[in-house]
Amino acid sequence: MHYSNLLLLLVVPSALAKCKCTPGDHCWPSALKWEALNSTVHGHLIANEPLAKPCYTGDMERCQEISAEYLDSFTLEKSPIGYQYSAIDTCAPLNSSKPLAGQPMCDLGNAPVYSIDATEPGHVSAGIKFAKDNNVRLVIKSTGHDVRGRSQGYGSLSIWMRNMRPQLKFEKEYTSSNRSCRSDWTGSAITVGAGYVWNDVYSFAAKHGVIVVGGDDKSVGTVGGYMQGAGHGPASHAFGLATDQVLEYKVVLASGELVTANACQYKDLFTALRGGGGGTYGVVVSATIKAHPTRAVLQHKLEIIPGPGNQSLIIGTIAGIISKFPILSDEGFAGIGEFNKIEEQFSYTHDFGVLLEKNSTEEIEHAKEIMTKEVVDALRKYNGTKLSVKSQFHQYNTFQDYYASGSHYATAAKGVILISRFFDKRSMLHQEKKLTTMLKVLFGKLDSGVQSPASSLSLALIGGGEVLKSQPDTSVNPAWRRTYMIAEHVEIAPPESGMEGLRQVWGRATNKKLKAMKDVTPDMGTYLNEADPYDPDWKEAWYGDRYNDLKITKNKYDPDNIFWCWRCVGSEGWDEVKGANLWGPLCENK
Ligand SMILES: Cc1cc2nc3c(=O)[nH]c(=O)nc-3n(C[C@H](O)[C@H](O)[C@H](O)COP(=O)(O)OP(=O)(O)OC[C@H]3O[C@@H](n4cnc5c(N)ncnc54)[C@H](O)[C@@H]3O)c2cc1C
Ligand SMILES: *[C@@H]1O[C@H](CO)[C@@H](O)[C@H](O)[C@H]1NC(C)=O
Ligand SMILES: *[C@@H]1O[C@H](CO)[C@@H](O)[C@H](O)[C@H]1NC(C)=O
Ligand SMILES: *[C@@H]1O[C@H](CO)[C@@H](O)[C@H](O)[C@H]1NC(C)=O
Ligand SMILES: *[C@@H]1O[C@H](CO)[C@@H](O)[C@H](O)[C@H]1NC(C)=O
Ligand SMILES: *[C@@H]1O[C@H](CO)[C@@H](O)[C@H](O)[C@H]1NC(C)=O
Ligand SMILES: *[C@@H]1O[C@H](CO)[C@@H](O)[C@H](O)[C@H]1NC(C)=O
Repeated sequence: MHYSNLLLLLVVPSALAKCKCTPGDHCWPSALKWEALNSTVHGHLIANEPLAKPCYTGDMERCQEISAEYLDSFTLEKSPIGYQYSAIDTCAPLNSSKPLAGQPMCDLGNAPVYSIDATEPGHVSAGIKFAKDNNVRLVIKSTGHDVRGRSQGYGSLSIWMRNMRPQLKFEKEYTSSNRSCRSDWTGSAITVGAGYVWNDVYSFAAKHGVIVVGGDDKSVGTVGGYMQGAGHGPASHAFGLATDQVLEYKVVLASGELVTANACQYKDLFTALRGGGGGTYGVVVSATIKAHPTRAVLQHKLEIIPGPGNQSLIIGTIAGIISKFPILSDEGFAGIGEFNKIEEQFSYTHDFGVLLEKNSTEEIEHAKEIMTKEVVDALRKYNGTKLSVKSQFHQYNTFQDYYASGSHYATAAKGVILISRFFDKRSMLHQEKKLTTMLKVLFGKLDSGVQSPASSLSLALIGGGEVLKSQPDTSVNPAWRRTYMIAEHVEIAPPESGMEGLRQVWGRATNKKLKAMKDVTPDMGTYLNEADPYDPDWKEAWYGDRYNDLKITKNKYDPDNIFWCWRCVGSEGWDEVKGANLWGPLCENK
């Protein structure tokens, strides 16, 4: 489905409203001005074109090449307008075996018009100044993984951080760069530039025999939205959230100034950048993070496939397993479970690991015993008849060997609808009944409208342990400190169902499915980086009681609201004028 710019023209923003200039407006900067910006940033300004444009200009050879890698996360991450999880695609690659005639048009949609390929802080400052002086919307992008579209913006200039890659730096014993700012962290540390993804940093950490808290997926960005918004992964249970690991940030402020924020200086900014969300307070150019000695890992893999027929059994079985998650987590197990339904066929898998503290036989045997007793034994009576159950333990000598055993790679997807919720101990332990009810709603056909052909529930058991401990100078939603699991439910609107299909599947997801998750977790909330953008309770659900303090910091460092993203802290005064579209010019909403 494609949405032409014509739709935008139907919704002319009120003549009195103050809007950011968009292409076609008389206030849009002239070619000369863009040229001048380009020379300020040493030729690093890119005029963006939709990735699949060659498909629409008849270059079918290039079009086929683009089609082949169109959903590859690493390819997308290397493009200034590569976005992993966009809700809509305004320039889908065409298949060369189909004729071009009658094909819909192709445009940038909500991708930025220009991007600065920033390789030094000066490029960032120049972009900020240009956006301010010319009343152009500014966005910041690293990988484009954001599921809420925060790194996109119609008619915007983007500061693209992918190539800000100063050499990674390892310090065996961390010492603060400022002697009068003593840090109580004396372990190792790694300094990471904003252009790196976890794949890069995991390899670097492995060489030094240390563990960093990074994403489950290798292609996620490091110091951008991921770290500033909390950051969980295979090591968070053992060491805390990614944002808890940050010792120091280097940040370009809205004023253009490059500063160092840590527990001694710019402490309020440091606090906001540790959990208050990306794209809001400044542009982070690097972060220094804690690195922990590697550990041996005990892994448990479980796979359950039901036989044909009765869906109650598999749903009840999975509810039973989830109800044991807090016990497993307290024993040290962490990782991702997946409960999927593809064309009526359910399947469950999990890959959980214990990052062993002692690496002793006793520790290993105890963990195995807990998993077997709490989860596996109850499954055996159905094995071979109603369910097929595979359960395996493996041991790895290092964290790196364990991580390498999994694929940790997800392809990009368009039309994705994600909803999520934090689960604490209380909402899982002994809650089979409530969890069963919830799973029935998540996987049920709730009305006769357009349905997703597949739905997937990711059971991210990445909390518990060190995540439960509050840390000074952080601003994550306090509900994180009670969280054991984040449940994320993902559906795809069938592409042929168009905008109406998207609205139906999304409306049901927000109003019925997310509601069913909230019923089980009344006082929790969710992870702002993996949230349903349309959650009506977003402020409370994503920020808890931290919102007002964060807004004070936001106003202090960005009084002109140059860093704006929808439902980010301080975003209330502005809105995208969308009309029938999902994006549009950014205008003051008074
Ligand atoms: C396949 C996939 C797997 C994921 N796995 C995990 C996971 O295991 N754990 C987890 O916690 N999350 C995970 N996420 C969610 C992830 O945390 C968010 O998508 C996050 O926003 C990604 O940050 P990014 O910088 O890579 O993305 P972007 O889309 O580039 O940016 C996200 C936000 O951060 C801002 N931003 C980016 N760079 C900077 C910067 N240098 N300075 C200031 N602001 C910046 C942007 O403006 C935007 O607001 C996953 C997402 C996907 C799509
Ligand atoms: C910016 O300058 C570089 C180098 O001269 C050039 O290759 C690039 O096309 C220019 N960008 C724009 C948007 O004109
Ligand atoms: C293009 O269409 C042909 C025939 O329908 C199909 O076999 C092929 O896989 C398609 N290619 C792509 C890239 O979608
Ligand atoms: C060092 O930290 C102190 C606060 O502890 C601060 O006042 C000072 O400006 C910092 N010095 C530098 C060079 O950043
Ligand atoms: C854990 O123990 C095994 C077997 O004794 C050993 O080979 C491995 O190196 C140890 N791993 C760590 C991280 O200590
Ligand atoms: C399905 O399984 C459940 C739980 O095992 C059982 O109570 C129910 O009777 C079964 N339904 C059918 C139609 O077999
Ligand atoms: C289930 O049965 C299969 C086939 O007999 C067997 O290989 C597997 O180990 C059994 N699973 C469990 C958890 O016992």
